[in-house]
Amino acid sequence: MGGRLIDGKALASSLRAAFKTRVAALSAQGHRPGLAVILAGENPASQVYVRNKVDACEAVGIFSLKIDYPANVPQETLLAKIADLNADPAIHGILVQLPLPDHIDEEAVLEVIAPEKDVDGFHAVNVGALAQGNPRFIPCTPYGVMKMLEANRIDPAGKEAVVIGRSNIAGKPMALLLLGANATVTVCHSKTRDLAAHARRADILVAAVGRPRFVTADMVKPGAVVIDVGINRLPAEEGGKLCGDVDFEAVKEVASLITPVPGGVGPMTITMLLANTIEAAERELET
Ligand code: GUN
Repeated sequence: MGGRLIDGKALASSLRAAFKTRVAALSAQGHRPGLAVILAGENPASQVYVRNKVDACEAVGIFSLKIDYPANVPQETLLAKIADLNADPAIHGILVQLPLPDHIDEEAVLEVIAPEKDVDGFHAVNVGALAQGNPRFIPCTPYGVMKMLEANRIDPAGKEAVVIGRSNIAGKPMALLLLGANATVTVCHSKTRDLAAHARRADILVAAVGRPRFVTADMVKPGAVVIDVGINRLPAEEGGKLCGDVDFEAVKEVASLITPVPGGVGPMTITMLLANTIEAAERELET
């Protein structure tokens, strides 16, 4: 036996096919969507993510601008570049890849992005709108998870949803979205007592901890839907492969539906970035 896979790759490619039409329509009106991606430093994982984002833009016809800085870039340089991009009519979305180098105040950087170009949904205005249940830009990873649930006809209303992890990028906005969809939401984190007991109550269990194989089969209720947000690189002695936050091989025998890593949430994160960028360009045309 074993649970069914939620195929993020297939869902991502069907959504992206539809995006091409929207991008072509905007481009025909002289309004080709444009995304600027800023990367500071040489974090190898960030370099891969940024390249994937830029490639995904090109594949659907979105203009992309990749801006690289060395790890020692002064904060003022980043702030000045963002101010330029805020004023640039060819740019509808601005993304600053996280994490930033230690000497940079991440919050200060995110706060200068114009909220209407904040396609990551990390600006306080967009976080506040999401918390109030009136989202403008939804952070891409949890947005992708909601689309995966919807595509698999999982309605969170009335269900017990447990989110493991409370990051601003994934766990916190994930909890807000599930709450907005009328789930009963529990957020677990490093200080949670008896985390496994909370996890075992979940009808929908989302793992966003950043620790390989953190969620084991004994933490999962039989028949639960398990969403793995983790992308961890295993050490070379374990094969150096990508691995999620869920012990996939064991948990798939208990879950009714489960996302693999790779090929689950990852492709959907980038897809929703494209969606937000197109949305930003469409909104500008409407105003
Ligand atoms: N680093 C890891 N995930 C993300 C993301 O979704 N957006 C940005 N900007 N940085 C990230």
